[in-house]
Amino acid sequence: MAHALIFDSGVGGLTVSAEIRKALPELQQTYAADDVFRPYGDKTDIQLKARLPELLWTLCEATQVDLAVIACNTASTAALTEIRAALDIPVIGVVPAVKPASLKTRSGQFAVLGTPGTIRRDYVENLIKDFANDKEVVLQGSTRLVALAEDKLAGRPVDMAALSHEVAPLFSNVDVDTVVLACTHFPLLKDELAAAAPPDVLWIDSGEAIARRTVSVVKEIEGSRPTRDEPDLALLMGPNDDAARRDAFSNYGFGRVVGLMPG
Ligand code: DGL
Repeated sequence: MAHALIFDSGVGGLTVSAEIRKALPELQQTYAADDVFRPYGDKTDIQLKARLPELLWTLCEATQVDLAVIACNTASTAALTEIRAALDIPVIGVVPAVKPASLKTRSGQFAVLGTPGTIRRDYVENLIKDFANDKEVVLQGSTRLVALAEDKLAGRPVDMAALSHEVAPLFSNVDVDTVVLACTHFPLLKDELAAAAPPDVLWIDSGEAIARRTVSVVKEIEGSRPTRDEPDLALLMGPNDDAARRDAFSNYGFGRVVGLMPG
């Protein structure tokens, strides 16, 4: 039996969970949303490195999972090495899809839309150096879009004026034809982003790539067979009296939704 922890600051990891569920329908998933510390995108590396290894260790000990998926670009680019060092199980992180975007752009110009934390990290700079050295890359950070994705899954209307304001700078250069969604919250807003962008823009996220990686890691775990013993569990850390948001987790396949610090 294999059991995976899916971790994010909020609902963003659901986009990764859904891809993993498609690829491994029988894999037991436990989701943890660090609602109390969101948004990660405006936290420093020091803050994230101080919080995440210990938090992930505690969650993995409590849930006895076989592998952990850090379904968050901000956490992965800031603290993956430290999280891996703290855990003795395989840890899969998210890599912003710079390489696929570099291969797919027709104009030679693409954008990376992430949190402010992610886009300023060396990790992203190195991906661009390694895989998109000959391309023009626009970097755009937004924490507002994280809040808008949370709104959407909590059943609140998405403020399209605010969303357009965040997206407009991506296309100040008209030749940008491809956008990397380098935050797992952003694919939740794909329709709204497409409505606010020029037609025919290609949006690329890392969900399927993480699912493929998860398939191969599960295969490598000795004796593991993906079979679900119990309904999948979502642990929401923080005050969680929002019924619509809890329903969103149920709709993504989490049969049990538990608030760890009910407000
Ligand atoms: N979902 C997270 C990511 O992929 C970040 C959201 C946040 O800023 O908390 O970067």
